[in-house]
Amino acid sequence: MVTPEGGGGVGHRILVIGAGVMGTGITTLALRHGVSVTLVDTSEAILAAARTRIAAELRMAQLVAGPAETDPGVLDTATSALPAIGGADAVIEAVVEDASVKADVLATVSAAAPGTPIITNTSSIPVDELADAVKRPEDLLGTHFMNPSYVIPTVEVIRGPRSGEAAMAAVAELLAVLGRKPIVVKDAPGFVTSRLLHPMINDAARIVREGTASAEDVDALMTGCLGHPTGPLRTADLIGIDNLVDALSVLHKRTGDERSRPCDLLLGMVRDGHHGRKTGRGFYDYEEVFR
Ligand code: NAI
Repeated sequence: MVTPEGGGGVGHRILVIGAGVMGTGITTLALRHGVSVTLVDTSEAILAAARTRIAAELRMAQLVAGPAETDPGVLDTATSALPAIGGADAVIEAVVEDASVKADVLATVSAAAPGTPIITNTSSIPVDELADAVKRPEDLLGTHFMNPSYVIPTVEVIRGPRSGEAAMAAVAELLAVLGRKPIVVKDAPGFVTSRLLHPMINDAARIVREGTASAEDVDALMTGCLGHPTGPLRTADLIGIDNLVDALSVLHKRTGDERSRPCDLLLGMVRDGHHGRKTGRGFYDYEEVFR
């Protein structure tokens, strides 16, 4: 158990699987709040890039949110989840938005540590679709941390029909340690936030494709007229165009809503490797690329 006061817990250590945009952001958040992290991905090269990114994010978090209030947690990295799983208070899975990849990862960790709360961090996949893969479905629930996780104060928490009280309580405690406000919703494709945000981004991309307005002007209108913090297309670059298309595809398949069918412009960007901030090019160009 992790406690906000820092006492009584078993080590304040979590396992984060997937060292991409979200895995590194969640790791940054945890380290700043004194929670130690073992971060897992498939290669040492990805993990080295993740360490660089986390160092930059820790500096950014300090600028945006001020100095950390506790001693930082310790960061370890590994190419296998299994050696570190025993001492983990919770496991956060943040691998790609692909139900079969997620199911494989969840099956492995749940078999190794039954009773440990397991969180799948997903934009769109219903938690209950993944629950059959885990040994104890009651250990599993979903989160939708927003990006950047070390800045955004609220976390959408998804309670699947089989998520158990103990796992829900443990994750509420973890989020309290991390200074995050949970909003618990029921299980559905895209939950609340992606169900609303992703079709809007898809429409914004269609507007650019049709030539009605440039990406800059779409974002300027949405920020200047409607109070959106960055505009939908800058948000798309921050999310990652590949991840956006994966999540739109899940939404489209599960709901049948044509607004969620990934539009040609987004599909072409994925084909061309223009995945947004993480590749240096999306709707905008970026100088700083982490991998
Ligand atoms: P990403 O593509 O940046 O990173 C995914 C990472 O998972 C990669 O580093 C990849 O090497 C790793 N991975 C793939 N298979 C693996 C395996 N078997 N074991 C260990 N690592 C593996 O993806 P991102 O954006 O970090 O998304 C992760 C999850 O979080 C997705 O489910 C996504 O939908 C969700 N999410 C993403 C948000 C965003 O703004 N990008 C926001 C909220 C949720």
